[in-house]
Amino acid sequence: MRTWEELERDCGSCTRCGLCRTRHSVVFGVGPRDADVMFVGEGPGEQEDLRGEPFVGPAGMLLDDMLSIIDLGRHNCYIANIVKCRPPHNRDPQEQEQEACIDYLRGQVALVRPKIIVCLGRIAAMKLIKPDFRITREHGVWTEKGGVWFTAMYHPSALLRDVNKRPETFEDLLSLRDKLRELQVKL
Ligand code: URA
Repeated sequence: MRTWEELERDCGSCTRCGLCRTRHSVVFGVGPRDADVMFVGEGPGEQEDLRGEPFVGPAGMLLDDMLSIIDLGRHNCYIANIVKCRPPHNRDPQEQEQEACIDYLRGQVALVRPKIIVCLGRIAAMKLIKPDFRITREHGVWTEKGGVWFTAMYHPSALLRDVNKRPETFEDLLSLRDKLRELQVKL
């Protein structure tokens, strides 16, 4: 198993896919390296690419608000993405880009050893839960794999575009709070 230093160094100089040609920064991940909860988005946006940190743009501000509803602070969670470099014009990361990058996320999960992984949006859920995951039908559903509990919520960017999805996300957040209690996660 690679150490944090090896993983971060390899990721920081990665040229495994074409996204390396247009990136400003590699957005590795942030948060306590022993967090019980991990949030995984799809890939950096403009602000994240400029600042080198995940979820610091408008979607990130909404994520912070979502977490505060259940008294969960960003500082309690490890936050990362499926791909570490920004897809141009915020397009969806392509399958081969996800495949080239997923090894870094697997390394992060192996080192953090979270109890819970929350996928933010369809792309992360399809990669981490199951390839045919349907976010509209299956958000808020819990699945246990290898001792880790997985669920998915709408991506905060989707919630910025469509406020009608917010009540369902509120329910998903309450379900996350219940799971944190059930697993006796200390915050
Ligand atoms: N959207 C994502 O999926 N990840 C980020 O880091 C920012 C926006």
